[in-house]
Amino acid sequence: MKLRTGVIAAAVLGLTIAAGAQQPPATAPPPTEGHGGPPPPGAQTPPAPSQGGFPQGPPRFPAHQRPPVDPAVLERGRGVYVGVCGACHGVDARGGQLGGLNLLRSQLVLNDQDGELISPVVKNGRPGTLMLPIAVADADITAIAAYLHGLQAQGTNQGGPPPGPPVELNILLGDAGAGEKYFAARCSTCHSAAADLQGLANRVPDPKMLQNLWVSGGRVAGPRRGGRRPPSASSAPTATVTFPSGEKVEGRLLRLDDFLVTVAFADGTARTIRREGEVPTVEVKDPLDGHRDLLSILTDANMHDVTAYLATLK
Ligand code: HEC
Ligand code: HEC
Repeated sequence: MKLRTGVIAAAVLGLTIAAGAQQPPATAPPPTEGHGGPPPPGAQTPPAPSQGGFPQGPPRFPAHQRPPVDPAVLERGRGVYVGVCGACHGVDARGGQLGGLNLLRSQLVLNDQDGELISPVVKNGRPGTLMLPIAVADADITAIAAYLHGLQAQGTNQGGPPPGPPVELNILLGDAGAGEKYFAARCSTCHSAAADLQGLANRVPDPKMLQNLWVSGGRVAGPRRGGRRPPSASSAPTATVTFPSGEKVEGRLLRLDDFLVTVAFADGTARTIRREGEVPTVEVKDPLDGHRDLLSILTDANMHDVTAYLATLK
């Protein structure tokens, strides 16, 4: 009998937890909420996502329990936010390049109800930081607040990406003028905007692929159809094999390991030579060496500047 009551009690308890009660009785197992990890073994399986309109299950945090807001206000808040705040705090509010912090994790934004805590920060700024006073109408601050709370309400984890289409990263942040100067100083010994790199940005319109292409010298570049031209014969590594007799064999390097070296010749034939230690000697020349040497001296700023410049080569 005793056992039986226990089972019923457990079942009732289970129901209460499944219903999302905020204050389970003291005898309840520790709540499984908190960090978005999988529930411990034996815990209630969380209800299927999408239940009740919450992608992360029933409301668990105060941030998930705000009353719904007029979509028109949300849309207005989104517009003002992206235009005025997004550059620093990130288009998705998770922080940005200019030092604006992650507003989805901000305690101040979490505690804010209707813009009353956000408003003073926006209007007065934070002295000594990049958060300068910004003139934004009260109604717009309320709308921004509603928009940020809306993002927080949909968030699955603290600081997790807000729902919606992935944000397009803009990597064309550099200064094309500075990039042109850098190019003249460091790249023009081997390349020319008027010759081999002419129309490069038409061939590789995606800035991310363009950056991968030029940084790697063309050996690593996104999908093939993305404008990567086949490596020219002149840019392939070559090897010179020298025998103890002084005889030399030279060709395009196909393979090199501790035991064998294979070189290909202009007539389409190839020769594989056995190696024992350093005999015969193999000297490899890679035309990309000079290009690769740049990687050790490139700064992030140089890289962005050069990419911005190359993106103008249309
Ligand atoms: C030029 C960059 C910049 C812009 C534009 C900007 N912010 Fe900020 N914001 C910051 C920085 C930097 C901080 C951190 C200040 C600090 O260290 O206390 C900050 C802090 C905040 C904080 C305080 C968060 C906290 O937890 O302390 C809020 C709220 C905030 N910004 C909201 C906004 C809103 C809303 C807008 C648009 C109307 C906006 N910011 C525009 C740079 C910016
Ligand atoms: C010492 C010579 C050298 C220097 C200096 C050099 N590169 Fe290269 N780069 C090469 C070689 C060789 C290739 C391979 C060319 C090929 O595959 O036809 C290459 C490939 C490239 C490619 C890919 C070309 C394509 O059409 O697919 C780009 C873009 C490029 N380099 C940009 C740069 C930039 C920008 C700099 C300066 C920051 C630079 N390179 C500096 C030698 C150099």
